[in-house]
Amino acid sequence: MPSVVVVGLQWGDEGKGKVAAYLSKGARLAVRYNGGPNAGHTVVYSGRTFRMHLIPAGGLVCGRAAICSGVYVDLRTLAEELRESREVRPDLKVVLSPRAQVITELALRAEELLESMRGERAIGTTRRGIGPTAVERFGRVGLRVADLLERETLKEKLGDIAAFWRLEGSDLDAMAESLSEQFMSLDLEVAEVSRVIRDHLTSGGTVVFEGAQGTMLDVYYGTYPYVTSSVTTSAGVSPGCGVPVRWVDSVVGVAKAYTTRVGAGPFPTELHGDAAERIRSTGGEYGATTGRPRRIGWLDLVQLKFATDLNGTDRIFLTRIDTLSGLTGLKVCTAYEGYKDGDYPVTLSELSKVRPVYAELEGWPVIDDVQRTTIVREGYGALHPNARRYVEFLEEHLGTPVKQIGIGPGVEDVVER
Ligand code: GDP
Ligand code: IMO
Ligand code: MG
Repeated sequence: MPSVVVVGLQWGDEGKGKVAAYLSKGARLAVRYNGGPNAGHTVVYSGRTFRMHLIPAGGLVCGRAAICSGVYVDLRTLAEELRESREVRPDLKVVLSPRAQVITELALRAEELLESMRGERAIGTTRRGIGPTAVERFGRVGLRVADLLERETLKEKLGDIAAFWRLEGSDLDAMAESLSEQFMSLDLEVAEVSRVIRDHLTSGGTVVFEGAQGTMLDVYYGTYPYVTSSVTTSAGVSPGCGVPVRWVDSVVGVAKAYTTRVGAGPFPTELHGDAAERIRSTGGEYGATTGRPRRIGWLDLVQLKFATDLNGTDRIFLTRIDTLSGLTGLKVCTAYEGYKDGDYPVTLSELSKVRPVYAELEGWPVIDDVQRTTIVREGYGALHPNARRYVEFLEEHLGTPVKQIGIGPGVEDVVER
């Protein structure tokens, strides 16, 4: 049963969409198991740039996509994404779990209130209703896809949610009507996704599970409370899809050659000033969902070690070696003063006091379009020795092999090792 899970090893936006698309060539099914429209997975496919929020990016490549129970679904976003995807992939088949949780306008309003209530301590969420919809799920008042098929249940659930958030005065009839209409217009199949996945795997197909967000945004193990409301590690596949843990054969961890973060929260290796601006502008580091500038920092091996261990990472796909090219005096954080290898600070006050220890590595010349083509054709040996040293330094520190290296945004801009 060749199944692979693609997980983000940092704070999201590592390039999971591109990696999942790369690994989905020849796969039977591409699967999203967590997160929701807070995710923005960029994939350059058929000459266009897609920012996928709910449909796994791999679906564009293999033509079959599943959205599982662990996903928070916004019906409008889904409709728009189905339309756009089918402009280049008219045969795209999408199956949606009846157990997936539905984001309502009530959750969007609740999130506005919660974020403004937090004032200076606001999380800086994507404002896609993720937190409140998760609270509804665990508070056992949530609306699921299956409820959209039963008019009375739908109205009753909306009433429960409005009461839960104390959002009186909402026109629940109009809301129910609008959700029903949006749902009925979706051209997809609603089915028990765990069975669909099992059928593909048992008949010898490959399934690619595409994680959303990154390990440090995980609700259990991330920089809480500056996290999202999902399990973002490889462990999320099992509850998210309703498949046994044993069904995941391998874990590909995606790491960027430096670090980025969107929204508030601790970021030990964060850079300010010219160095950050240079990486942000060469790399076009702006959020795929909200357009916010991404915060930039040096690669953090303490954070990455914690993440590779948590995910049971078999191999690393390192992206954006090209974005770092042309810089002199690169730094890599190898330790936090006073912390043992493999440990990661737990509280915000501990994180605020962290003192990163840096190693300095030599940079490598700019990788332009011509060189990119040569390197892809000739392989790892064609990368500048300093770039290879960077890769190997990371690999030695983490004890996990780097098997693929991204040197451009295109799905094929990959060096295999
Ligand atoms: P995701 O959320 O993890 O899928 O990542 P995003 O799509 O939000 O952000 C990653 C960005 O990096 C996208 O614009 C990708 O097109 C781009 N990208 C991915 N891999 C590479 C790479 O190796 N080099 C360059 N230059 N861009 C890359
Ligand atoms: P992908 O899948 C980067 C961040 C938000 C905020 C925090 C909580 O594209 O990597 P939420 O809206 O989830 O309640 O916001 O999490 N965040 C992401 N950052 N990439 C993402 O997804 C993210 N999804 C959520 O910016 O800091
Ligand atoms: Mg993203």
